[in-house]
Amino acid sequence: MEIQATDTPLLNVSPSVRSFNPQLMEITATDTPVLSWTGDGLAIGFFEFEDAPLTGELTQLNEKFAGILDELIVETEFKGSEGSSAVTRVGGGSPVRKIFLVGLGKPDTIKLDTWRRAAAVVARLAKKEKCKTLGISLPTWNNDPDATATAIAEGAQLALFQDNRFKSEPEDKSSGIEQVELLGLGNQEQGIAKAKQIASGVILARELVAAPPNWVTPITMAETAIAIASEHGLQLKILEREECEQLGMGAFLGVAQASDLPPKFIHLTYTPEGTARRKLAIIGKGLTFDSGGLNVKGAGSGIETMKIDMGGAAATLGAAKAIAQIKPDVEVHFISAVTENMISGRAMHPGDILTASNGKTIEVNNTDAEGRLTLADALVFAEKLGVDAIVDLATLTGACVIALGDDIAGLWSNDDAVANQLVQAAERVGEKIWRMPMEEKYFDGLKSPIADMKNTGPRPGGSITAALFLKEFVKETPWAHIDIAGPVWTDKENGYNPAGATGYGVRTLVNWVMSEIS
Ligand code: BES
Ligand code: MN
Ligand code: ZN
Repeated sequence: MEIQATDTPLLNVSPSVRSFNPQLMEITATDTPVLSWTGDGLAIGFFEFEDAPLTGELTQLNEKFAGILDELIVETEFKGSEGSSAVTRVGGGSPVRKIFLVGLGKPDTIKLDTWRRAAAVVARLAKKEKCKTLGISLPTWNNDPDATATAIAEGAQLALFQDNRFKSEPEDKSSGIEQVELLGLGNQEQGIAKAKQIASGVILARELVAAPPNWVTPITMAETAIAIASEHGLQLKILEREECEQLGMGAFLGVAQASDLPPKFIHLTYTPEGTARRKLAIIGKGLTFDSGGLNVKGAGSGIETMKIDMGGAAATLGAAKAIAQIKPDVEVHFISAVTENMISGRAMHPGDILTASNGKTIEVNNTDAEGRLTLADALVFAEKLGVDAIVDLATLTGACVIALGDDIAGLWSNDDAVANQLVQAAERVGEKIWRMPMEEKYFDGLKSPIADMKNTGPRPGGSITAALFLKEFVKETPWAHIDIAGPVWTDKENGYNPAGATGYGVRTLVNWVMSEIS
């Protein structure tokens, strides 16, 4: 199916109709001084202090409000430590109804992410305190008002996102914040627009991951790609089963064969208007449900959470949505081999031998190591496009969660330059990542007596053998693999991520694509 962008109405595929949409909140940056701002809630940021934090215009603000800042600081023992906050109501008839103090921590430990987190604290407080208008006065990060505005706008929007799609009545019916003004940053229209574009991608990824597996299926994923293509003008090709067969994608189709739903191989392309500075491919693991197959996931395995197994594909589509709006001078291919890992009379047997599209044969000694099988054919496909670099994101192994915990993604690469680019991109956007070793010796664990390789090695180093397996499907293109099994989801609210799907990866991918590397 070849699809070009058209004017056809959007399919209502991203089930966002009833989802709370923080993008409707109006955000502006201005030169308004804190002293003259009027509205419902005024938030002021502080670095950690020992004594006398009120200087300059804050002294005047304190006087204007009859010493209320001093009182609040003393009463709540507010010291400006990171993540701390204090709230007070300003007396009757005042042009500001509530004052919020927010702590940024020690000036020598701050990062740009401190601003995103502080904005999240402020936005949540303002919502709780029923502020319709909010003024935020934070210091400027690194003399860079543009980056500061982007970070604050991102943090506020991402923190306020709320998923009401699957409730018959939303629990929280408050209309929420309508207007946010970032004070003292000058006009930062571009930076704020960029934050909205990025947040729209992150929110799409969160919605896709959070939706249950009877809702987000391979068909819905394809429809979402169609919606992105037509809304933002990308090229789209969806390869149906027959075309995947013709391309010899035996590994992907082996995984897909027990599902009653058709597999969908999604290939979205963003092409810049002028000449492309680079040509990149982003691949996401797209298992809309992972039962384990005949090596079924048992009780206590977290099988009921396996809707998250398309988190890589969700980040890929989210990045596509953001990049299509930001329009960098880089050609980007967004790829996902989408299916479910199910059980039926047609299911792969443990022990089956599959042939991938590069001709390599795989003994499937565990049907639950399915992600790498789908990625194998996607990697071969991507390399044939002649791109400068390939990055794949995948909820690939529980072993990576054991190694790095819930917050940190694992990174493997055959190329130091690409690995460093990704580490730096992740650092800039506040997504935690750690480079892991490609220990060639461990490939011994994947040796098969009968086929070219097995799909599963021994338990120790399980996330490393998974990466070594993938490497067999990339010949010479610089490539990196990111295992997001941990950070794709958070059980508790964490910074600007509400509990649930995080949309991890979208911001790193966007930042990587945009970074000035030739
Ligand atoms: N989708 C899982 C990995 C996973 C586990 C993601 C927990 C998120 C949270 C993957 O397909 C899988 O089942 N991996 C197996 C591999 C094993 C059979 C070699 C695993 O990690 O146990
Ligand atoms: Mn699995
Ligand atoms: Zn899986």
